[in-house]
Amino acid sequence: MVSPMDKKPIIEIKNLRKSFGDNHVLEGFNMNLYEGENLVIMGKSGSGKSVMIKCLIGLEEPDSGTIMVMGKNINQLEQWELDELRTEIGFLFQGSALYDSMSVRENLEFPLRRHTKKFGIIEDTTPLVMEALENVGLTHAIDLMPSELSGGMKRRIALARTLILQPKIILYDEPTTGLDPITSKEIILLMMSIQKKYNTSSIIITHDVDCARVIANRMILLIDNINYAEGTFEQLSTSEDPKIKAFFK
Ligand SMILES: Nc1ncnc2c1ncn2[C@@H]1O[C@H](COP(=O)(O)OP(=O)(O)OP(=O)(O)O)[C@@H](O)[C@H]1O
Ligand SMILES: [Mg+2]
Repeated sequence: MVSPMDKKPIIEIKNLRKSFGDNHVLEGFNMNLYEGENLVIMGKSGSGKSVMIKCLIGLEEPDSGTIMVMGKNINQLEQWELDELRTEIGFLFQGSALYDSMSVRENLEFPLRRHTKKFGIIEDTTPLVMEALENVGLTHAIDLMPSELSGGMKRRIALARTLILQPKIILYDEPTTGLDPITSKEIILLMMSIQKKYNTSSIIITHDVDCARVIANRMILLIDNINYAEGTFEQLSTSEDPKIKAFFK
């Protein structure tokens, strides 16, 4: 069997440290993301998961440590290089963060117009918009406004917008929070089918144990400001360590 470890890392975080004043959020965090895997990150509220993701996409500067994304040290890139690299990284924000004043179509066109380098200037965006909507089963919603969508639909449209630039890496921050169990399950299945179809590599931040059980190829627990534990769901959920056990109750 090929384990994810035999593949090469698409993201490598080494000894990441980040403090805000006296608040030492990350004190030596390490993480590899391998090609094609779904890596789940769990950690208490306020443990630094979002800070880690922000460092990863260059929105926060680490105090020390190195972050390599697709072979590039992101803290040594020029702004234009960082912008280009970001088109390879899809980010599904907590909530859905659609633009309320734009229709579904306009929301999906937005990243295409913003990052013209990747596909060039596209005269007719409809095929790309439709393909992205097809992936989330919502082609019929193309002309709706966000206010006309349910919470689950918004999340799916946000996912479609993330997919439209065909990223190699997708970062999900709490993709199922605020959704009912059935809709959560639908989103998880979508995430998995997208991963299969495009062979994307994903980091999924979640508090949702059911989500982790279904989707994780591997997990990292962010506890005490470091990557405290790593392993499969099976390995971690049967751990005797009280700090680890607390997550699986
Ligand atoms: N820009 C900032 N300035 C100062 N402190 C910050 C900043 N961003 C985050 N923090 C602090 O860093 C810590 C970690 O925050 P972070 O948002 O990463 O937590 P989290 O693990 O994502 O939590 P949650 O599960 O609630 O989303 C918190 O104590 C927070 O107050
Ligand atoms: Mg967070």
